Amino acid sequence: MKKIFISSDHAGFNLKEQIKKNFVKKYIFFDLGTDNSKISVNYPDYAHKLCKKVSKSSNNFGILVCGSGLGMSMAANRHKKIRAALCYSVKNAKLSRLHNNANIITLGSRLTKKNIAFKCIEAFINTKFEGGRHIKRVKKI
Ligand code: RB5
Repeated sequence: MKKIFISSDHAGFNLKEQIKKNFVKKYIFFDLGTDNSKISVNYPDYAHKLCKKVSKSSNNFGILVCGSGLGMSMAANRHKKIRAALCYSVKNAKLSRLHNNANIITLGSRLTKKNIAFKCIEAFINTKFEGGRHIKRVKKI
């Protein structure tokens, strides 16, 4: 089973839990917190923690959830080996893999419906980088 790192702030906590439950039979999740929705935390702390893990191997994938998905993607994209994509549709989730070789998907729990988020994750994980003309572009990032 594929291993996936997952993390959220308080705003993303409920969706993070729903994601783990929905995919329990398909993927193994390494949950890096936070562990409740009541205590307000700072999303960059969780993004950085997860990015350090994902950066260790080119086969690693991560899921980051906050209220909008924006803060998590901004923080994650400060890491050299991370290409984090804020996904809100199956189409853009697929493209983030096909063209950009994204290794982290970020989701906005307050803006994206649960079932769309699940579909985005499924598309993200099961789509391979196209390579070819996109290799040099990704390197230029
Ligand atoms: C928390 O209120 C919210 O600001 C955070 O989850 C995220 O949306 C930031 O980008």
